[in-house]
Amino acid sequence: AYTSLELTLVMLCIVPLVVVFAVVFGRMIRRISKETQDRIAASNTIVEETLAAIAIVKAFANEKFESIRYAKSTDAIIEKALQGAKARGFFASFIIFCLFGSIVGVIWYGATLVNKDIALAAADPTIPRDQLFTLGKLIQFVLYSVFVGASIGGIAEMYAHIQKAIGAGQRILEIIDEQPEPYHQGLTADTIAGDIAFEQVHFTYPSRPDIPVLRGVSFEAQRGETIALVGPSGSGKSTIASLLLRFYEPTEGRITIDGTDSREFKLEFLRGQMAIVPQEVILFGGTIRENIAYGKPGASDKEIEEAARKANALEFIEGFPDGYDTIVGERGIQLSGGQRQRIAIARAVLKDPRILILDEATSSLDSESERLVQEALDKLMVGRTSLVIAHRLSTIRKADRILVLDRGRIVEN
Ligand SMILES: Nc1ncnc2c1ncn2[C@@H]1O[C@H](COP(=O)(O)OP(=O)(O)OP(=O)(O)O)[C@@H](O)[C@H]1O
Ligand SMILES: [Mg+2]
Repeated sequence: AYTSLELTLVMLCIVPLVVVFAVVFGRMIRRISKETQDRIAASNTIVEETLAAIAIVKAFANEKFESIRYAKSTDAIIEKALQGAKARGFFASFIIFCLFGSIVGVIWYGATLVNKDIALAAADPTIPRDQLFTLGKLIQFVLYSVFVGASIGGIAEMYAHIQKAIGAGQRILEIIDEQPEPYHQGLTADTIAGDIAFEQVHFTYPSRPDIPVLRGVSFEAQRGETIALVGPSGSGKSTIASLLLRFYEPTEGRITIDGTDSREFKLEFLRGQMAIVPQEVILFGGTIRENIAYGKPGASDKEIEEAARKANALEFIEGFPDGYDTIVGERGIQLSGGQRQRIAIARAVLKDPRILILDEATSSLDSESERLVQEALDKLMVGRTSLVIAHRLSTIRKADRILVLDRGRIVEN
């Protein structure tokens, strides 16, 4: 601007064009980058799943199917990544084109100015030289413009990179923005008595908002009672257990514990009062001892052994050469289903909860072990409120009440 105002204006003409272009292309680069990242995630999922379930893949002889599936997904990544690279390349070349275009424009326009001033000077030699636009000034201006232009070109490149990074990071930002469970707020007490009531509870899973899973479930369990829950597969039994543990909240209605809405309790406290033996037991990849102690971190060896004995797990644990130090393998795959179940029961025994939830806790046991574990559970359930989900009648003989659930409703009480 110092050298020539007119030329600066000519130069700045391209700025709006570049800005519009940068915004449009920036968005496009961001979108493509996010899609690339999503496709990478999808293809990693294939690898993870295939390796985790390698036995199933082999049993169904689907190695080829899986490798084709993976090849397809990596092709999809490459396609998107190339698309992104092309967009960035196009963006960068456009910016460079604009810059050189404007420099050429400036040289051309500057040359006409210089010519005009030479003509002026020829006509009227009295004009002072520094008021004229000379060739020297033009070269000076063009050089400055090139420096500035090169830096702007650098900014454009940077901008494209930033847009790419924003697109790639979007999923992470989504996770950061996710509301955490209100784990540390709410009511606490020393302990709870264990009166549970479901009052007209309706529930749909957030991932499937149009399918009602529970449709007005009401029941009560006084402290110390055992409530059995039976019903066909998919009727919502495990869902009731999840709601009691407050993994989800009812869409309508409420769940009370000792007469207080369970939402008012501090989650940490509430879950500390409950133990669940889930339908599908997953262990951690450490030792048997660590897995049982999960019910009560810091438990002594004696307590752990006592819990294992009550869960009828002593026999098989002592059968292993390493005993309690036996490694269970990733997710517990080196143990049988029934053995895992007994470890989960030992965990619950050790936790000594006020409310016990058993989701088909003995379904993987043979009838002899089941009888033994059932006896242990019967003892464990004394004095606690228990919710027992079961298919077999033998498990629920001793229940105070049997609720029959069908398609999200209690049909028999
Ligand atoms: N995480 C989830 N997201 C969406 N829908 C789910 C989810 N978990 C379960 N469902 C659906 O909710 C319904 C009830 O499932 P639930 O696991 O409570 O059944 P269940 O009575 O425990 O069955 P089973 O006897 O087979 O264990 C099913 O139709 C199921 O498809
Ligand atoms: Mg279930």
